[in-house]
Amino acid sequence: RTVYVNGDYLPEGEAKVSVFDRGFLMADGVYEVTSVLGGRLIDFDGHAARLDRSLTELGMTMPMAAEDLRGIHRELVARNGVEDGMVYLQITRGAPADRDFAYPPQDTPQTVVLFTQNKPGLADSPAARTGIRVISIDDRRWGRRDIKTVQLLYPSMGKMMAKAAGADDAWMVEDGHVTEGTSNNAYIVAGGTIVTRDLGDHILSGITRAAVLRFAREAQMKVEERAFTIAEAQAADEAFITSASTFVMPVVAIDGAPIGDGTPGPVARRLREIYFEESR
Ligand code: PDD
Repeated sequence: RTVYVNGDYLPEGEAKVSVFDRGFLMADGVYEVTSVLGGRLIDFDGHAARLDRSLTELGMTMPMAAEDLRGIHRELVARNGVEDGMVYLQITRGAPADRDFAYPPQDTPQTVVLFTQNKPGLADSPAARTGIRVISIDDRRWGRRDIKTVQLLYPSMGKMMAKAAGADDAWMVEDGHVTEGTSNNAYIVAGGTIVTRDLGDHILSGITRAAVLRFAREAQMKVEERAFTIAEAQAADEAFITSASTFVMPVVAIDGAPIGDGTPGPVARRLREIYFEESR
């Protein structure tokens, strides 16, 4: 596989990052995951805009114009022959000479890394036909979840807790309300209305979320952006998640309680279809 590091395209085994990199030492970095379907980048503009915002919130700037970043994405997709899969992009505050809590000077070069992952058949994953099972866990992440940082240890622990419980993923709960999934936004469908958490610093503003809500509204579906509880979700007709890696994925059980009849619901299935029709 060819990867990109600070201006160079290299075989993955030859790519190097400093041990003093603040991404490595302090999780001082941000990332984006853009999906690739049929060799095409999905929603690149949205990912680039959110990247710019994440960097700005942390006192960093875009390392290059969004168009140039798009060029690197496309180059990697081409070089690695990615038909279906994703491009991962990470930007850190770079590698100052020593470990120090204070930010290094603004002119410290950032570390820019991109790689691809090939996932043949990504769009028709068997999980989409059966739906996934989630458990609920406390949301113990930091308070700026609107910034897409590489601090992914708690989400990683959440996935392990889900696995240990025989489930696929976890929905995180704060003050009695669902924030989001470990790496996706969470939704329920109740009384014909699609409900998902309102935006703020408590969740990531998903690029897939924005697209799906737009398509839902265009299709005259009712959408409410508000907090909901696990009990409300368990009593809902349907549940699903969205992200660049799962698109729209039905959720069929929460903490062991089946949602609706325990199979993927019509709204989630329809939104998944619309998502592929519109974004391909
Ligand atoms: N995760 N919420 C969280 C906490 C996320 O990490 C993600 C994305 C989302 C969905 O955002 P989007 O629709 O823009 O992918 C919501 C990516 C896919 C990941 O970490 O791999």
